[in-house]
Amino acid sequence: MAVTNGNAAVVYRQSGGVGVIVINNPPVNALAKQVRLAIADLLAHAGKDSTVRALVLCGSGRNFCGGADIREFNTPDRQVRPMTRHLMNLVESCSKPVVAAIHGPTLGGGLELALGCHYRITHPDATLGLPEVLRGVIPGAGGTQRLPRLVGFRTAAEMITLGTSVDAATALEIGLVDRIAGEGDICEAAVSYAAKLVEQGAGVRRISEMEIDLDPVAGETVVAEIRAGLEKSARGMQAPFRCLESVASTLTMSFEDGWAREAEISEEAVASIESRSLVHAFFAERQVSKIPDIPADIARRNIDKVAILGAGTMGGGIAMSFANAGLPVTIIENSRENLDRGLARIEANYDATRKRGRLSDDDMAARMACIYDSTDMDAVAEADLVIEAVFEEMDVKQSVFRELDRLAKPGAILATNTSTLDVDEIAAATGRPEDVLGLHFFSPANVMTLLEIVRAEKTSKDIIATVLDLSRKIGKTGVVVGVCDGFVGNRMLAPYFRQADFLVEEGALPQDVDRAIEAFGFRMGPFRVSDLAGLDISWAIEQRRAETRPADERFSPLLGRICERGRYGQKTGAGWYTYEGRSAVPDPEIEALVRARSEEMGIERRDITDEEIVQRCVYSLINEGAKILEEGLAIRASDVDVVWLHGYGFPRWRGGPMFYADTVGLEEVVATLDRFHADWGDKWEPAGLLRELADAGSSFKEWDAR
Ligand code: NAI
Repeated sequence: MAVTNGNAAVVYRQSGGVGVIVINNPPVNALAKQVRLAIADLLAHAGKDSTVRALVLCGSGRNFCGGADIREFNTPDRQVRPMTRHLMNLVESCSKPVVAAIHGPTLGGGLELALGCHYRITHPDATLGLPEVLRGVIPGAGGTQRLPRLVGFRTAAEMITLGTSVDAATALEIGLVDRIAGEGDICEAAVSYAAKLVEQGAGVRRISEMEIDLDPVAGETVVAEIRAGLEKSARGMQAPFRCLESVASTLTMSFEDGWAREAEISEEAVASIESRSLVHAFFAERQVSKIPDIPADIARRNIDKVAILGAGTMGGGIAMSFANAGLPVTIIENSRENLDRGLARIEANYDATRKRGRLSDDDMAARMACIYDSTDMDAVAEADLVIEAVFEEMDVKQSVFRELDRLAKPGAILATNTSTLDVDEIAAATGRPEDVLGLHFFSPANVMTLLEIVRAEKTSKDIIATVLDLSRKIGKTGVVVGVCDGFVGNRMLAPYFRQADFLVEEGALPQDVDRAIEAFGFRMGPFRVSDLAGLDISWAIEQRRAETRPADERFSPLLGRICERGRYGQKTGAGWYTYEGRSAVPDPEIEALVRARSEEMGIERRDITDEEIVQRCVYSLINEGAKILEEGLAIRASDVDVVWLHGYGFPRWRGGPMFYADTVGLEEVVATLDRFHADWGDKWEPAGLLRELADAGSSFKEWDAR
């Protein structure tokens, strides 16, 4: 077995009549320039070498190939021939059979490379897919042309437009691979497979020469069906439709023409704001756990046991998050009755998932077995982390924390799930404020991925690092925020909701506001969100806060009037809407209430455009977000984006409110805010930071990188 050619990034050896090309470009075997050049050379060499009867293409380390090299984006190296998309054709044009030996994550360009090969064998551990759509782009290296020819039009169109990946077994079932190897070395298995193919006289098998399985008419029907689905699931986005168009070209075009069309569509997608936004979201999520003044290698505390105080709505959901990750958790309540009610709710919750076929009996039992219970506060003594989720009252919280101070072991992390109270004040009830922080989960806590990690004045650095790691372990995205009313997310939500109220008083109906906001891309408009959360809860909070809130920050009295009618939202079948099942139906009774409110305020109702609705709601978010940054309550604008992507259904393909502001242009945002300020007064005054950045022609992105 001699190494005949290649460079450090690609190694070649020969095993009997089989030439083996090994990509060796850590960490993911991306197709950097030197990899592409070496593969091209080796293919040419093997083509001429009469002792080579077949080739195997495999990857060393963790996976087969990670596709195009992101480090090369925007550099001239990317353009060096063969470019990634040409490389796949070069592999395919080889005159000797080429077998792809797939293992590990083989996604995007990695799978496209495997599709350029003539045969595919996979390790059982592989994941295969073309998830480009999730980054706002399309598979641009032949993927939209080859996958449908190989696995069938419908399957390919669905996989590519949704960005779904499959495991090895499914890959075999749909014909994406020819075989699954055993657990051993995939490269060796591929060499045997290649030798067998030679023995059988199997020749090259080029996917580009295969026929698509549908005629244009039948294909068009499938395209229409998929498009209709995307219009619901991917409203407002472009990438899924671009993917569909590119896949659909296989119905009417030759491989060559479709391949050229794919390149054009791919270029448009790469240049789109949507793709920039999705890439921003991806990096924002990676950045969020880096805390400038906390060393990355700071020693973490061990978290093996968790205790939760309160088995209410939040306590139960939080306990489930830990149990789902296999961490033992003890729920403590003040009475057996409350405890049993809480546990029953957890069980019912799991059972509903089980009945939907998304949780096996065994997994449900394993999760329930992670949950212990007690009515004795002494049970916190063993916990490494205690999360308090009792009633939202300062006196109650402080007395709980005094008890915790007495009972919890030294070094235990003491967390409060408060959503509105001052974490510093809660910490002050203990003699160890350095061990106290806020862990603000969102409801339903077992589902929502956002976790605001509230760093109080005295919180020690190591516990921030510890809970950041822990959040990942329980499937949450932790964002470190400072102490202020509502922290980051809910503080921004307040002016957003206030605008929704004002819009309704000025002339819009709740359904108009929701429609405009949903067309912008939010999963739900503000009124549907309120109905889902329960109007009685907002009303109770509002009444409690009315004493301390300035008049111009209070909610509209409409909320109270709706509640007085027993309309608490979805759970009572009526709120801002009436509900037929889950669907919200506009209600004349609400319209009458809304109109009466305008009249009482002496407002002449006017038509309000969708554009104004979006600007007033979304720009109020941006302005509040800028104030939060100015006050140092979030570390980066991109952290604010992560809060909104994970906690509030902000459209990911717009990157988050702060990134969206960058894409609109901060100058433009400030000009609009100035106009609103002139019309409606001080609440609209642009934040100093926003104006400063706009005046300097800068952006939040640049501010983050400062
Ligand atoms: P809840 O009223 O459903 O549950 C509170 C539970 O705590 C009750 O079961 C009560 O019996 C128990 N409890 C009271 N005192 C206790 C004590 N000394 N020891 C043990 N258990 C005690 O309230 P929910 O909604 O779960 O809220 C809990 C906390 O989470 C509050 O601070 C709230 O602000 C916060 N939060 C609530 C969110 C929500 O959407 N519901 C979202 C984020 C935070």
